[in-house]
Amino acid sequence: MDTQILDGKATALTIRAELAKATAKLKAHNVKPGLVVILVGEDPASQIYVRNKDRAASGAGFEVNTIRLPETVSQQALEAEVEKLNQDPKVHGILVQLPLPGTLNAGAVVDCLDPAKDVDGLSPRSVAAWTLGRPGHKPCTPAGCIELLDRYSIDISGLHMVIVGRSMLVGKPLAALAMARNATVTVCHSRTQDLAGHCRQADVLVAAVGRAKLIQGDWVRSGAIVLDVGINRGEDGKLVGDADQAGMMGRARALTPVPGGIGPMTIAMLIRNTFCCAARSVGLDPEVLLAEAAACTEGAEA
Ligand code: GUN
Repeated sequence: MDTQILDGKATALTIRAELAKATAKLKAHNVKPGLVVILVGEDPASQIYVRNKDRAASGAGFEVNTIRLPETVSQQALEAEVEKLNQDPKVHGILVQLPLPGTLNAGAVVDCLDPAKDVDGLSPRSVAAWTLGRPGHKPCTPAGCIELLDRYSIDISGLHMVIVGRSMLVGKPLAALAMARNATVTVCHSRTQDLAGHCRQADVLVAAVGRAKLIQGDWVRSGAIVLDVGINRGEDGKLVGDADQAGMMGRARALTPVPGGIGPMTIAMLIRNTFCCAARSVGLDPEVLLAEAAACTEGAEA
């Protein structure tokens, strides 16, 4: 079987082009989307993620600022920073890069976010919204997974999605979003017995554990779709996913590469969420602006 590569990089570029067009329209209303990323400490992976977010959002015409705070910052000072940004009308989206150093209470920081500016979809009101299937911001990585499937016209209704990983950033919200699309969902984690057996049941297998090549090639049923969310450094320094992708070629029907799969889609969804916050801040419907921009991009591509 030929394995189709689901090209997240190219898809994200298309989405970012649509967002740049929609952002230009927002300018007519004197609004420039403003995103602030708070980065605490020196974690190398977080530094790279934040730099990529900054570049992509600037490229879409946003005002982007990264607030870098030392690892020693107090909980009180960090929460005060979030509160200040909540009050700033030029800031439409706030992202606190995770993980935070272990001395800080990440949950309490996220609880301080104004839900209208919570571009990560992690504040309690956002979590309630995506859990209950109501409108609201959705966490960027799972939203990127669903968007990529949509852009390849892959309908997961009735399919069995097996998610390996139960994190707040990926596994839990993706389970909710996939159920909202009528998938049957199984969530596996570090205590799951017979992980390989569960994976072999999947029509759509999602690897989101953060361990290089944990998911073996022969854990994939023939014809399954594999979404590899992991971004790990291999022994040779190259980026590798959570799935043994070489072992899946020819077995899987479709596969997201690492790099160039879900990673760029996550960033595109962050830009989209920020755009939506900015549009709503002046009473505009972001979906209308985005549909117009997508139609205009399609026309340009035809
Ligand atoms: N760290 C890794 N991915 C993410 C993300 O999507 N959001 C935040 N806030 N931190 C992250």
